[in-house]
Amino acid sequence: MPERIAHHRRYLMCRPEHFTVRYSINPWMEPARPTDTAKAVRQWQTLYDTYLALGHEVELIDPLPGLPDMVYTANGGFVVDGRALGVRFRVPERRGEERPFMDWFAAAGFEVIEPVEVQEGEGDFLLVGDTILAGTGFRSVGDSHRELADVFGREVVSLRLIDPRFYHLDTAICVLDPVEGVGGVDAANIAYLPSAFDEASLRVLEERYPDAILVSDEDGAVFGLNAASDGRNVFLSPRATGFDAQLRERGYVPVPVDLSELLLGGGGIKCCTLELRGNT
Ligand code: ARG
Repeated sequence: MPERIAHHRRYLMCRPEHFTVRYSINPWMEPARPTDTAKAVRQWQTLYDTYLALGHEVELIDPLPGLPDMVYTANGGFVVDGRALGVRFRVPERRGEERPFMDWFAAAGFEVIEPVEVQEGEGDFLLVGDTILAGTGFRSVGDSHRELADVFGREVVSLRLIDPRFYHLDTAICVLDPVEGVGGVDAANIAYLPSAFDEASLRVLEERYPDAILVSDEDGAVFGLNAASDGRNVFLSPRATGFDAQLRERGYVPVPVDLSELLLGGGGIKCCTLELRGNT
């Protein structure tokens, strides 16, 4: 069993003080169904406290009234090497978040790059080693992948999502270990939900990550893949029991955190977590 190493993380989160579901921009959102903002805040607070308890650092951006989805900070940008690429939402309901996130990055000392193409940040872009996996199909457009490669000078691998329930890449892939590489059980550095991808993307994933953890539809459907990992501890939904067992077999330590209320907006743990890389 490989000994997994926890890497220190710096995250950006947003307390869901204005959380509610009053429009529907993904299949999970049903405005007719009541939401409980206090409960969302309590569940979110548990995630925040858990990150701190495991030694991570969490920065906060102020929640703004009228922007109920701002809690999903993964969609606020994509940050590598102290440089923050802002976002341009596909969905008009969230465009009001673009400027506040870019302002936050600038105030925190990041170099801010204003995007040209439509993309929704770390919701669709995931860094694995030196490679960026980039999703398209529902939100981020293909041209944003080219822009991403230009901005960060890294290899970008495009993947196409085909199931509307898994409309952002971070609902279908979880990066478990920042290091790309080596074979065998040690290499289980990503996990993914095969049924969320088209054939061509599946072939790319199989070839690049032959030792990846393949997650069941059942665990995918409870947003099991929308998990955050520090390379050892994997923060995931307590409902993803099969994925939990797969992680243990590979030496990871599952840390269940329940964000059921935030799932009413179509988001989970990873959606509420934006990684801030560089510039500390
Ligand atoms: N209601 C939000 C939306 O549809 C949820 C975003 C989830 N974020 C994520 N990174 N998957 O935009």
